[in-house]
Amino acid sequence: MSDLRHRRPPVDSPAALEEESRKKKRQQKADDEEDSGISFVDILRVLSGLLLLSCTFSWLITDGESVTWGYRPRLSRWRHLKNVFTPKLNLTEIELSRFTGEDPTLPIYLAINGSVFDVSSNPHMYGPGGGYGHFAGRDAARAFVSGCFQTDLTHDLRGLEQMFITGKSRSEDDSELLEISQLEIKRREMQKIEDLVEEQEEEIGHPLGHPNREELLRVEGRIRWLRQRRQKRKEMAEEKVRSAVQHWDRFFREHERYFYVGTVQHESLEGTPVRELCEGKKKPGTE
Ligand code: HEM
Repeated sequence: MSDLRHRRPPVDSPAALEEESRKKKRQQKADDEEDSGISFVDILRVLSGLLLLSCTFSWLITDGESVTWGYRPRLSRWRHLKNVFTPKLNLTEIELSRFTGEDPTLPIYLAINGSVFDVSSNPHMYGPGGGYGHFAGRDAARAFVSGCFQTDLTHDLRGLEQMFITGKSRSEDDSELLEISQLEIKRREMQKIEDLVEEQEEEIGHPLGHPNREELLRVEGRIRWLRQRRQKRKEMAEEKVRSAVQHWDRFFREHERYFYVGTVQHESLEGTPVRELCEGKKKPGTE
C-alpha cells in the first residue's frame, strides 16, 4: 500500500512530461525577470525610500513641525473636512442679511454672485466696523468688481461691463453708436420712400423701378456690421466682469480660513432699470 503511495509516475508518462514542461516555464519566467533587471517591487522600494528621506529632511528643516514641507491639504484640516459633510444652505436675501456679525451668536457670511461664504474667522475685516464690513450679510458682487463700496453693494452686474470699455475702445464704441443712430434715421426715411413706391406700383399695376433700393441695402448692411462690432466689444468686456467675479469667488472658496456654505436666492431683476456706472467708473462726458 505504502509502495503504491510513493511510486512516482514513469518519466515518459504524460503526467511527468507535463510536470517537466511546467518546470521549464517557471524557470524561463524567473530567468526573464532576472534579465529585465528592475522589478515592480524594486520600484516600490526606491519610491518608499525617497518618501522616507523627504519626510526626514522636511522634519529636520522645519524644526520638527512638518513632514510635508509645510504643505497641508485643505481637507486635512478638520474644519474643512467637517464642512464637506455639512448640508449646504439656500438662503433668501433677507435671511442672509442677518449674518453681518452684529449678532455675536451668528456666523458672518458674505456672498458673491449667489455663492455664500463663512468669513467668521476674520471679524476685524468683515465684522461691524471692519474695513470690509460692508460686504457682510449681502451679495455685493458688483462692488467686488467696481470697487465702489458705497453705491455698488448689489449682485446686479448689468451694465458693469461698460467699465472695461475704455480708451480707444470707448471712443470707437461711442462713434459707432452715433453712426448707427444717424444711419437708422436715414434707413427709416429710405424705407418710407420704398413703401410709397411699392404702394404706387400696386395701384398702377406695373413696376416703377427702385433707385433707392441699393443704397437702402448698403445702409442696412453697415448698421448690421456696426452692431456686431459693438456686440463683440460688449461680450469681451462682459468676460472681464465674469473673470473678476470668478477671481473673488475663488479667493473665498480656496481660502484656508473661509468656507463655502451654500447659496443665496436673488429676486429677479427683470423690469428694473440697468444701473449707471458709479462715479469714477463713468465714461468722461456723461452725467
Ligand atoms: C476692486 C477693489 C477692491 C476690492 C474688491 C477689495 C477687496 C478686498 C478684500 C475682500 C479684502 C480682504 C481679504 C481677506 O479676507 O483677507 C481686502 C484686503 C485689503 N485691501 Fe482691498 N480691495 C480693493 C481695492 C483695494 C485698494 C485700492 C486698496 C489700497 C488702497 C486696498 C487695500 C487693501 C488692504 C491693505 C487689505 C488688507 C487689509 C488687512 O489685511 O488688514 N484694497 N481687499
